Amino acid sequence: MTMDQQNTNGAYAGDTANRSHIAARERPLKILIAGAGIGGLTAAIALRQQGHEVILFEQSRFANETGAAIHLAPNCNGILRRLGLFAEDIGGNLMLGFDEYTPDGKLRVSADLRGQQSDMWQHPWHLVHRVHLHNALKEMATCTSGVGKPAQLNLKSRITKVDSQNATVTLESGQVFSGDVVVGADGVHSKTRESIVHGDIKPYPSGKSAYRFLIPKEKLQSDPATREYVEKKGVLVMWIADDRRLVMYPCANNTLMNFVAIHPASETDAAGDDWNEGGNKDKLREVYKNFHPSIDTLLSYVDEKELKLWKLLDMDILPNWIDERLVLLGDAAHPFLPHQGQGGGQAIEDAASLAVMLSKDTPAAEIPERIKLYQKCRYERANKIQHFTRLAGRDAAEVKEIESLNMMEYVSYNFGHDEWHYSTQMLRKWQWSRTPALRWRMPLSFGPMPGPRQDFLGRSRSGAHSTFTTASITFETSRTLLQTLLPTPAFSFASPGTIATASFSATMLGKMDWLGGGGYNLLGLNLHGVQYTKKDGSRITGTFLAVLFENLTDPIVTGREELGMPKLYCALDVFRRKESTFINASWKGASFGEWEWEGLEPVHIPPTNGESGSGKLSGGATTSFSPNGFEDQGILAYRYVPAVGREGKADAEYAVFVPRNKASEAPRVRTTFRAKKASFRFNKRNWDELPTLHHIAAGLAELPIYKVLEGKIVEGEGVEDVGQTERIE
Ligand SMILES: Cc1cc2nc3c(=O)[nH]c(=O)nc-3n(C[C@H](O)[C@H](O)[C@H](O)COP(=O)(O)OP(=O)(O)OC[C@H]3O[C@@H](n4cnc5c(N)ncnc54)[C@H](O)[C@@H]3O)c2cc1C
Ligand SMILES: *[C@@H]1O[C@H](CO)[C@@H](O)[C@H](O)[C@H]1NC(C)=O
Ligand SMILES: *[C@@H]1O[C@H](CO)[C@@H](O)[C@H](O)[C@H]1NC(C)=O
Ligand SMILES: *[C@@H]1O[C@H](CO)[C@@H](O)[C@H](O)[C@H]1NC(C)=O
Ligand SMILES: *[C@@H]1O[C@H](CO)[C@@H](O)[C@H](O)[C@H]1NC(C)=O
Ligand SMILES: *[C@@H]1O[C@H](CO)[C@@H](O)[C@H](O)[C@H]1NC(C)=O
Repeated sequence: MTMDQQNTNGAYAGDTANRSHIAARERPLKILIAGAGIGGLTAAIALRQQGHEVILFEQSRFANETGAAIHLAPNCNGILRRLGLFAEDIGGNLMLGFDEYTPDGKLRVSADLRGQQSDMWQHPWHLVHRVHLHNALKEMATCTSGVGKPAQLNLKSRITKVDSQNATVTLESGQVFSGDVVVGADGVHSKTRESIVHGDIKPYPSGKSAYRFLIPKEKLQSDPATREYVEKKGVLVMWIADDRRLVMYPCANNTLMNFVAIHPASETDAAGDDWNEGGNKDKLREVYKNFHPSIDTLLSYVDEKELKLWKLLDMDILPNWIDERLVLLGDAAHPFLPHQGQGGGQAIEDAASLAVMLSKDTPAAEIPERIKLYQKCRYERANKIQHFTRLAGRDAAEVKEIESLNMMEYVSYNFGHDEWHYSTQMLRKWQWSRTPALRWRMPLSFGPMPGPRQDFLGRSRSGAHSTFTTASITFETSRTLLQTLLPTPAFSFASPGTIATASFSATMLGKMDWLGGGGYNLLGLNLHGVQYTKKDGSRITGTFLAVLFENLTDPIVTGREELGMPKLYCALDVFRRKESTFINASWKGASFGEWEWEGLEPVHIPPTNGESGSGKLSGGATTSFSPNGFEDQGILAYRYVPAVGREGKADAEYAVFVPRNKASEAPRVRTTFRAKKASFRFNKRNWDELPTLHHIAAGLAELPIYKVLEGKIVEGEGVEDVGQTERIE
């Protein structure tokens, strides 16, 4: 993204009403969550940690998970760890490898993931019991300790209706609750989804069903027929046939083996609307009767009471997950087939993204925009992983026909992502895009830069209470010599005479907001009576700024980059005495210029707008001087930015102009002192002593002083903005 795009891509450009919200202290949001599954509970934790009030509605009596295990791959495990849930504390064991067998029991592939676990992914890949995970999430969402206010969990609270405009939910009991936003985390058979798609898109059977069950590892270990399969710790084992597969992996500290037995739905005929539908063990054994005999031995250990049958449902991609103040997440938005173990992971990523978007300071009025951003972050990724999952679940025969599966490519995409980081950056970019006045300077990596003309939210700054002391010496010198300082023939002196007027103007600035209340010193050489002739023959008349020294990096950088001013660093020591003032310009101990005002006496001249010598322009960079009939319209300077890697070439090269500010906030002059005597001199230095500034010091030393016209010091308050600096043509 270029700087320009970042500056102007805002759909909210000029939306100042919204901008003011950014800084406002907002009340916490009231967030209603439908469903206390993995997605709903993770959202509850993350949103309570953001400081919001969370109310969960769960249809079931206990909100218990049953059976089975779940992969916490690095992408979602990292999010849980950020929220404070560490899978190893709840019996999670590491996924250390996988073995793939043919149906007749031959080892086909054996992969060791131990290296990748430690080298590729910062967060571990854990296998956990679903009940342990669910209980831990429930505890974290509702416990009184922990960050934020405990979420309120309402059980036996089936939601029957949602109003997405008003953020209200109606329960089966008829009770109505209203909040700022409703989160539909009510799973594959989502009720809340209906108010977004109006029943047009519904889950449909994928053609496959799955048995789920757990067998204690001990049992399989003590049977010689099955021992081989469980010998290695932390390994996932798959037996893959053309149209069915059996997947086994350990959980609960490697004490339980979790099974998913995916097969053609027609063979077992599950009802399909309940994850907890019981299964028939004989039917299960029948499904795998053509597998190696050891598989039947293995299945003989199944406890029929624990056996669940689940019809695998798929669904078309929803065009939209949000509506005004209703937002779907998890299986409600994108029901997952289990082939990649990413359904829960994507629900967790959704929850993280939503919590990022609904940051602590979110104004209630901004919710519809914020959840649009959530969808923008999540839509492509969740749908893509859903697509990969579908591909990963195809029958072997189908895969050969189409293309060979590159599982590692999917895994890299799935795992190589941190939704918290990603969503946080997307939120920032959105906030920046709404503030078109933000300025970008290097480095771009950290966002827009505050500066003299704007704070980090892009609001303009006032220099009204900043203080300035400007000491200037105006003198007559050689026009023909000054002419050599003008960068292009478009610049010239208005008068053809050989006498021209120049001035040195030094300003000490204080109480600058953008410098945290501090200040700095600057000193510049101004050539008066200069004109710039444009291509069309018209002219701008003013004061040419030949060089400007400053003793602080920040204004040098902003002034060069944003305004095109010829700024350089040197030390500027100012010694202010009752009746005299002395300024010493030096670089690393090598003094090259001295300015002195002696016999200072206060004078009483009414300050006029335009007569300055004050901190008037460029934070006090120039004094204005108007010889007879000459209108000093402002400062002229020449911007030159060298090209990278192309010696002697410029990336930008043009004249700039700072018009004299006619704005109301003019500097207020408090006191003016006139010097009886004013003088300056330049010390001869060589390249060794003054390696980077020698040529400038030498140039200044060449200036003949025909006559000193005036030496004065002006003190006051108010430093004007030079933000209206423009490129001339
Ligand atoms: C056998 C199996 C293995 C899986 N393996 C993995 C894996 O290894 N890794 C992985 O990441 N994912 C896995 N998944 C997928 C994962 O479990 C789901 O994608 C995930 O649970 C979705 O979470 P959710 O919160 O969106 O929905 P659910 O977990 O389905 O939660 C929805 C909740 O909403 C409640 N609810 C529904 N309707 C209402 C209503 N009207 N009012 C109030 N409450 C309501 C439900 O009772 C439920 O508690 C697996 C799924 C299964 C079934
Ligand atoms: C389900 O939850 C209830 C209450 O939280 C608890 O008493 C019960 O033991 C749980 N059942 C299971 C199977 O975890
Ligand atoms: C797993 O082991 C840890 C440490 O030994 C123990 O605290 C925890 O209770 C165990 N969890 C399960 C689910 O077995
Ligand atoms: C939503 O709120 C508005 C304004 O308070 C009200 O007029 C409208 O009837 C409400 N809609 C529903 C469905 O409750
Ligand atoms: C610039 O000069 C001012 C005034 O003498 C001084 O306070 C400040 O420390 C100087 N800044 C730097 C960076 O040297
Ligand atoms: C000017 O500053 C330089 C560098 O700090 C110092 O060496 C020199 O003595 C100063 N000159 C005067 C007159 O103070």
